[in-house]
Amino acid sequence: MSNTTRPRILQRGRLLPQLESALAAEFDVHLLDAEQDNTAWLAEHGHTFVALTSSARYGADRALIDALPNLRVISSFGVGYETIDVAHARERGIQIGYTPDVLNDCVADTAFGLLMDAARRFSASDRFVRRGEWLAGQYPLTTRISGKKLGILGLGRIGRVIARRASGFDMEVRYHNRRALPDAPFAYEPTLHGLARWADFLVVASAGGAETRKLVDAGVLEALGPKGFLINISRGSVVDEAALLDALREGRIAGAGLDVFEREPQVPEAFFALDNAVLLPHVASATHETRQAMADLVFENLRSFFAEGHVKVAVP
Ligand code: DGY
Repeated sequence: MSNTTRPRILQRGRLLPQLESALAAEFDVHLLDAEQDNTAWLAEHGHTFVALTSSARYGADRALIDALPNLRVISSFGVGYETIDVAHARERGIQIGYTPDVLNDCVADTAFGLLMDAARRFSASDRFVRRGEWLAGQYPLTTRISGKKLGILGLGRIGRVIARRASGFDMEVRYHNRRALPDAPFAYEPTLHGLARWADFLVVASAGGAETRKLVDAGVLEALGPKGFLINISRGSVVDEAALLDALREGRIAGAGLDVFEREPQVPEAFFALDNAVLLPHVASATHETRQAMADLVFENLRSFFAEGHVKVAVP
C-alpha cells in the first residue's frame, strides 16, 4: 500500500538490509525487482516516484529515467556512476547523489592485497599446501614487492590512497592521467605506454565508462613486460580482457590481480587455469565498515535532498 504523505522512492536492485529498513522507515519505497514485467509496471506506476535508489552495478539508463517522469533525485550506492545516464538526468534537472571517498581506504587496501598476492603468490601457494604438494618439495621463488616501481593509472581519490600505501613499501610511484596534476608529489608519465614500460606493478584506478574503455590493451601489456604485474580495482571495461588472458597464458606479463571483469559476474573460464592470476568477485569496498558508510551516504543524500533541496554528495 502506498503512503502518499512520504516521498515515494523506487528501489532498483537490493541494498544492505539495514539501509532498506532505514529507507522504509522514512520513505514510501517500492522494489522494482519485485515486479515481473518492469516495463509494463513502470508504464502504469512510474509517474508516482520522485526518487530512485540504485547502485554502481544497476545504474539508471535513459529508459528507466524516462519511465519516471516526476523523478527529482537519484541516490546511488557506489563511487562509479558510468551506468547512470548522467547527461540525460541533468537535462531533466534530476540531482544525483553517490558515495565517493568513504570507500577509498578499503579499495586501496584491496589493490595492495591483490598486488601482494599476485607477486608473492599467497593464494597459489595456499592451494599448493592444500594439495599436499609441499611434501614433495618447496614452492618456487616469487617476486619482491618492497622498493619496486608502482605505476598508477588514474591518480584520483582512490589512486592517491594507493600511492600512500606504497610509501610503506618504499616503492617509487609514478602516474598517468589525462593531464598532470600540479599538486601531485609523484612523477607524471605523459603516456600509459611509458608508465607501463617503467612500472613493475601497474595499478588501474581510473573511472570506468566510454572514455577509458580498453585503455589497457595488448600494447600496454607488452610494455609492462614479462616481469610486470597488472592490478585492476577499477572496472573490467578498462582492460582488454582477451589481450590480458593471452598475455598471462603466454607469460608476456608476470601476473595479474583482478577484482573486476568485463561481464560480471561472468569470468572467462580460461582464467581459472591460470595460477598467475588472482581473481576476486568485485569485493574491493565490501567490508562491514565501508559498506555501512556507503549505505549511510545513500540515505543522507536522500534525506538532505528532501530536507534542504540538494543531495549531500553530488556526482560532479
Ligand atoms: C563502486 O562503488 O563503484 C564499487 O565498484 C562497488 O560497486
